[in-house]
Amino acid sequence: MHNHAHPDVCPAKCVKWLNSPIRKLIQNPRKLLQDYVKPGFTAVDLGCGGGFFSVELAKLVGATGKVISVDLQPEMLEFTREYARKNGVLNRITLHPCAANDLKLDSLEADFVLAFYMVHEVPDRQRFLNQVAALLKPGGCFYWIEPSFHVKAKQFQQMLGEAQSAGLIPKIPIKRLLSRGMVFTI
Ligand SMILES: C[S@@+](CC[C@H](N)C(=O)[O-])C[C@H]1O[C@@H](n2cnc3c(N)ncnc32)[C@H](O)[C@@H]1O
Repeated sequence: MHNHAHPDVCPAKCVKWLNSPIRKLIQNPRKLLQDYVKPGFTAVDLGCGGGFFSVELAKLVGATGKVISVDLQPEMLEFTREYARKNGVLNRITLHPCAANDLKLDSLEADFVLAFYMVHEVPDRQRFLNQVAALLKPGGCFYWIEPSFHVKAKQFQQMLGEAQSAGLIPKIPIKRLLSRGMVFTI
């Protein structure tokens, strides 16, 4: 049974594709994230799915840092728990259930926030982006990437405008195979 708050949410059974070892060949988490995440950071993985990026974030933040893995599907958080346990980094990860239109992270201050292939599934994008902006420490970084087969160039432009309305400042465009994205600061 799936916990679908929204018809477009990636079903939990997709985890076998999301966490496939083959994915590392085209989307290597370390290569993608290492320039942005330092030891001691508080990093947030929004829509963490099976934890494909959470585990690498936990390695990059090290023993002095922490990762908050956020998803609206409890099954996904359980997959993340198992994947983190197998990789020996579960003690650095907090599993955080959220609602479709509320991250419920009000008291958190993050150095780095990741949204990998998930914003197109969020019903109220402006509210989501406002919450991301509120979450970031001054000078913090928001790494946002979407699948180009779901989010066309024109729609991505519109989404960039929404991010800027939330106070996020576009810094580095991400151009990768099958993807379009942006690194923001605040
Ligand atoms: C395509 S998967 C990507 C998972 C992971 N980021 C990755 O790249 O491996 C999208 C994930 O976002 C989650 N998601 C969708 N809408 C969400 C929302 N409004 N709030 C939090 N998580 C959401 C889904 O449950 C799913 O786990």
